[in-house]
Amino acid sequence: MKIGVIGGGQLGRMLALAGTPLGMTFAFLDPAPDACAAALGEHLRADYDDKDHLRRLADEVDLVTFEFESVPAETVAFLSQFVPVYPSAESLRIARDRWFEKSMFRELGIPTPEFADIQSQADLDAAAAAIGLPAVLKTRTLGYDGKGQKVLRTAADVAGAFAELGSVPCILEGFVPFSGEVSLVAVRGRDGETAFYPLVHNSHEAGILRLSVASSNHPLQQLAEDYVGRVLAKLDYVGVLAFEFFEVDGGLKANEIAPRVHNSGHWTIEGAECSQFENHLRAVAGLPLGSTAKLGESAMLNFIGSVPAVDKVIAIEDCHLHHYGKAFKAGRKVGHATLRCPDRATLDRQITAVESLIERG
Ligand SMILES: Nc1ncnc2c1ncn2[C@@H]1O[C@H](COP(=O)(O)OP(=O)(O)O)[C@@H](O)[C@H]1O
Ligand SMILES: [Mg+2]
Repeated sequence: MKIGVIGGGQLGRMLALAGTPLGMTFAFLDPAPDACAAALGEHLRADYDDKDHLRRLADEVDLVTFEFESVPAETVAFLSQFVPVYPSAESLRIARDRWFEKSMFRELGIPTPEFADIQSQADLDAAAAAIGLPAVLKTRTLGYDGKGQKVLRTAADVAGAFAELGSVPCILEGFVPFSGEVSLVAVRGRDGETAFYPLVHNSHEAGILRLSVASSNHPLQQLAEDYVGRVLAKLDYVGVLAFEFFEVDGGLKANEIAPRVHNSGHWTIEGAECSQFENHLRAVAGLPLGSTAKLGESAMLNFIGSVPAVDKVIAIEDCHLHHYGKAFKAGRKVGHATLRCPDRATLDRQITAVESLIERG
């Protein structure tokens, strides 16, 4: 089976690493000459709205999937005419736009921060008065790694903030005084079979994920599965979906969803029976899902900007290196380490060992 992937970054690369043993082959559509997934399959180097190349891709593959959600809606609609596309155009339409996404949470009874649609500075002034400060202004589309958003703490922050984010459609959210951030990675097959990985605790720095630790028997696991299950059913979703939550007042508030494999699920490569990448491929290909059970205690540390010396990383016991083969650049995710340890004390020790190798700029 040949899988077409829109996007050829590290997520595409790790999909191919997981799918190759299942006999799958891959073609990636990505305009970047140095797309790091290209080492693992065919690279169609073209823009995401290049109809000739989209048509070529559709003719070559059995199905198309995505490694990022900011694909133009017309691209998905065009491809869908010729080849099965998972997740669906509708799932992408909702997940790529924070207004649609949060409106869906509200409709499904999933708690989420207060929010308002912002089309002008006047909208922002009114919403800031209604929601109160601090609040977070975010572009509705195209934000990632904390880009395209601004925390507003004072009236002076509010003034001019709409223009600062580029005068594009935004949402304003109430600032959540969270005690922690967790994510749930879920997978749903074409037949509706659903599975959930354990909740993961995530730590960010400067808006970028640094550390994910998979939990054991998290008290909010069932609640999170209930919320995520509602979204999966509503969207008749196929593939892996990641759901980010704030932990607040002993409950959960929905932050955002990603209609794809997710950075907070990278620990599953070595830390779970079947990884999020393999499960995504199983789901979209109509194959039975694999077990989401955790093996030991597991965590993932991102390498941002540069990867430490390979010999030092792999010398750490229970540590698995994933080097994406990308050019090093400040603020860019260029690799990660997965830890899989027999117990929590060992895991904490090995996290410290990996952290000691990471240079802080
Ligand atoms: N409403 C909020 N209240 C408090 N912190 C927030 C809020 N929204 C976002 N953040 C912080 O900013 C990070 C990135 O925001 P997020 O909406 O997840 O965007 P991205 O697409 O960049 O991941 C979150 O993980 C959280 O740490
Ligand atoms: Mg996020």
